Amino acid sequence: MSLSAGIQPETLTALIALVREHTGIAMSERKSVLLERRLRPRMQALAIGSYQAYLDKVVKDRAEVPHFIDLVTTNDTLFFRTQQVWDYMEQDFLPQWQREHAGQPLKIWSAAASSGEELYSMAILCEEFKARTPGFGYRIYATDISQQILAHARSGRYAGRSVEKLRATHPEWVKKYFQASSNGLQVMEALKKHVELAQHNLLTPLKPPKQFDLVFLRNVLFYFDQEHQEAVLQQVRHSMAPHARLILGESESITGLDTAYQFDRPMIYKLDQ
Ligand SMILES: C[S@@+](CC[C@H](N)C(=O)[O-])C[C@H]1O[C@@H](n2cnc3c(N)ncnc32)[C@H](O)[C@@H]1O
Repeated sequence: MSLSAGIQPETLTALIALVREHTGIAMSERKSVLLERRLRPRMQALAIGSYQAYLDKVVKDRAEVPHFIDLVTTNDTLFFRTQQVWDYMEQDFLPQWQREHAGQPLKIWSAAASSGEELYSMAILCEEFKARTPGFGYRIYATDISQQILAHARSGRYAGRSVEKLRATHPEWVKKYFQASSNGLQVMEALKKHVELAQHNLLTPLKPPKQFDLVFLRNVLFYFDQEHQEAVLQQVRHSMAPHARLILGESESITGLDTAYQFDRPMIYKLDQ
């Protein structure tokens, strides 16, 4: 069978079930062309001639699963994505945190961190806040299911679209927190030293559970069906301090789901007390 034949319907159904099993992502059958495009380079690299044969490999060979996860996850992200969230951090969350918890380090979790733009955006705001707030400290724990995208986050190297807006809106931050690298920007150690990155599937418990004060869970829930959205929210809750805030993406809402969260303001939720 040649690859140009496309994915057969029964193979497509089985691949979609496998994506859901390993990531929770509910992929539509209409996405078969996307799936083909993503799997094809890996199959060519492995000299595998059919989608069914690749499916069999993922099922039988555990070592292939991380590659499969890298291929089926969507990692779009930007520095300072959704300005409203960062205005809230700067003007409300950080000053309130300092008033109520002075002397304690702020513990942040970027829970679907992708290539890291979100966590380094928050690190920049924390550094700026630290400069005018003696005694303020912070730690950022960042996780994603994809090992490949975490390696990008760990490298801290950015180019193109992900940094265009940052260059245009905050050239002073680019100068202060990045070094020029061969074809883009490299995050400086001053930010990186506050960050720890680890692989984690949001459908499983975080081990050991932590007590975060702020959790970014942005632009990931919308890949899941309702059952898995509720399961993820349930897991995340176990790693939130009672006063913590949960931040969702701008097109995500959890109102109507069976969860332990209360609406605070658009995109911002707190725990039911
Ligand atoms: C679109 S990106 C969101 C990045 C960032 N939070 C933002 O809003 O810009 C979604 C990320 O969720 C990750 N992801 C998907 N399923 C996951 C799961 N079950 N557990 C952890 N991360 C997952 C993907 O690998 C991807 O990097």
